[in-house]
Formats: sequence, structure tokens, C-alpha cells
Amino acid sequence: MKPVKVGLLGLGTVGGGTAVILKRNAEEIARRAGRGIEVDFIATLDADAAANLGIENVRLTDDAFAVVNDPDIDIVVELIGGYSPAKELVLKAIENGKHVVTANKALIAIHGDEIFAKAQEKGVVVAFEAAIAGGIPIIKALREGLAANRIEWLAGIINGTGNFILTEMRDKGRSFDDVLAEAQELGYAEADPTFDVEGIDAAHKLTILSSIAFGIPLQFDKTYTEGISKITLDDVAYAEELGYRIKHLGVARRTEAGVEQRVHPTLIPKSRLIANVNGVMNAVLVKGDAVGATLYYGAGAGDEATGSAVIADIIDVTRTLTTDPENRVPHLAFQPNELADIPVVSMDEVETAFYLRMTAKDEAGVLAEVTRILGDKNISIEAFIQKQPEHKGDDANIILLTHRVNEGDMNSALEQIEALDVISGDVMRIRVEALS
Ligand code: HSE
Repeated sequence: MKPVKVGLLGLGTVGGGTAVILKRNAEEIARRAGRGIEVDFIATLDADAAANLGIENVRLTDDAFAVVNDPDIDIVVELIGGYSPAKELVLKAIENGKHVVTANKALIAIHGDEIFAKAQEKGVVVAFEAAIAGGIPIIKALREGLAANRIEWLAGIINGTGNFILTEMRDKGRSFDDVLAEAQELGYAEADPTFDVEGIDAAHKLTILSSIAFGIPLQFDKTYTEGISKITLDDVAYAEELGYRIKHLGVARRTEAGVEQRVHPTLIPKSRLIANVNGVMNAVLVKGDAVGATLYYGAGAGDEATGSAVIADIIDVTRTLTTDPENRVPHLAFQPNELADIPVVSMDEVETAFYLRMTAKDEAGVLAEVTRILGDKNISIEAFIQKQPEHKGDDANIILLTHRVNEGDMNSALEQIEALDVISGDVMRIRVEALS
């Protein structure tokens, strides 16, 4: 059988990894796919990139549309990232009847519904395993491996850069900026690193996971998003003292009111496996009603780790080239006409426990005022630490762990606490999840 011809858009970190693996493992991949898979045409702005990677006998261009419009190309692999021109390129490829593989989480989270509808209409596949958690086959697991289950919740460390920063802060006391610079050098961070540290990248990924888990449309605008940029070395140390680790978590949970979709720093008990996922590694914990809890762990970024997921998709597409479009695995796991209208609940309705850190005057009655406000809202305290100031007269740090409480009630309690004369600055609050 004739080999399948792949057109690569982008030869950066992931594009390079993909091309190198396809060449190195060509024989093994062909045995799995049932036919050869060849990179035939590459769009890159770096004229030397292919030669530097030892990639020969390919056509090169600096015009990505030339690849998308080339009649010889069967599968377009979009590894440019960002919203535009990635969206135009993907839609054009679909219009030209080509299958698409992409690692672009931003594109899928924001424009996925439109892209999948177009792909459905044209009978082509848009595959995006590499968009989430790098090399971990989490889409495959959720969409196929767990297809028997009613998914109850999932929680994931799905941004390697953020996890790397938090790990280095905890283990080595390194500063936030220093670790971020290293993540950028290693090629883990997004082109705009605020996407990593402010949670946008994780929110893109969580939006997609939530849609696939619960069979709902992609709703990035309803994903609550909070980054890690306000976490201090003190918070990391106090969490440890209380028996917790701070992780930047994406949580999607089915409740009676709807679906929770949220990304924020979270205290997790140290004893949980997922609390021990360190460095650039990612992990996703999924709770299904039949299977129970399952955990997926691996490299969340990097050239060959992400290339591994890209190629798994290329192989899947190659195998389905001859399958009737109606009988393929649906893009969002559920049949397109079966997506549910379950609302995404507002953050005010979400219930979690909380870690609170506040800076207070070191004088009698301060704690009583704080606990009175919490008590009035029925917020009960589970643990308490007071860090005395080094010098008499300086402010003290008060750290509280609460039991589970409605976010709306916590917000109004915090407003009152921050208004107290004896409290200075904002109260730092981090949600706590037992994940049991
Ligand atoms: N910037 C992303 C991360 C890359 O750090 O996880 C992989 O999506």
C-alpha cells in the first residue's frame, strides 16, 4: 500500500520531535499503522531546521498554506500553535478534505466546536491527543478506555511549567522568575509564559477534558482560571507544615447543579500520589463510577514526549482512512448530536476547604475577630498556625485551614476580614482538595 503523506506545519520543539521519531521508528510505526507514514512537505520559517535535525528528502516551504493546499498531502499536522493563522490553516485543510492532527490546545478549546462541526461535514478527522498533558494518552483513555463509565470528576496537573516552578520553589527555595526562565530555556513554556503562570494554558486543557468527560460543548469562557503567580515561598512552607503540597490543579466535577470547571492553586494532602508529581511531569486523576480512580502520569511537555502523542494520532488517522466516517470515534467522545446541555456552575456555588494566610497585628483579640467573622458564616476551622514576628511589634502571620465551605460565603467572609484594621493587605486563600 502507498505510504501516507504527512505535511508538517511548524518545525519547532514539537515539530522537530515528531519528524525525528517518525524517521527513527519508521519501520515499527509502519508495522503498527499497516502502511508507511512519510513526512513529505514541511512549512517552517527556519530554513536550516530540517537539515539540523537530519531530516532529508522532504519538500520545504515558508508558506504553510502551500502545504495545506497540496493535493499529495493526506494528513496535515498543525504544530504552529496560537489562534491565527492556525485556525485558518486547519479550516482550509478540512475544506480540502484532509485529516488534521494538532497539538494546539488554545485552538481546540476556543474554536473546537466550529472545527469539529466542519470536520464532521467533510468526513475528516481532527485529532488532538498532543494538546493535553504532552505524551500522556489521556484523550484516548477518557474517550475510549473509560467509555463504559459515568465520569464523576477529574483533577489534573496539566501545565508542566507551573508544576516545575512550584516544585523548584518547594525543593530548592528558588525564586519564581528564576525557575520560569529555565522552563523557557528548556522549551516547556508557552510563547507567552503568562499563559503558563496565570493558568490560561491549563484552562484550555481543562476545558477540553471536561467536554470529553461529560459530553458537553467546549466552554473555555466559563472555566474559572487562577494562576500561581501570587504563591509565595511562605505558602509553600506552611502548606508542608500542615501536611499538604500546593499544586496547580485543573478540576472538572459533575455535581447536582451542573459541572464545575476550574483551574487554581490547590492544597492536596502530601500522601496522595498526585501530590508527588514533580517537575515538568503531568498527571491526571479520573474518577469513573465503574472503574473507580485511575491515574495517568508522564511528561507533559518536550519535543519527543509530545511528538509521541502527535504520532499516535497520525497512526490512528492512518488506520481510519478506510473507515466509514459515521463509525469513527467521535471528536468529543460523545456523538455530536448527543452533547448535553448541563450548565457549568458559577464559582460562588463551588464547595471546597480553604487555606488562608493573613498578616495581622500582634495584639490581643485579633484572632477572636477573625474567627467571629468565619463563625457567622458557619465556616469551621480545621487547623491553625500562628507565626510570631521576629521583632516585637511587627505583624504576625496567621494561617488557617477551614472545613469545606461554599465559595460565595468564603468571599464575603474574606471581604469582612480584609476590612479589619488589624489585618493588613489581602488575605491569601488557596483551595484545598482531599481527592479521596
Ligand atoms: N507550556 C505547556 C506546559 C506546554 O508547560 O505544560 C505543554 O502543553
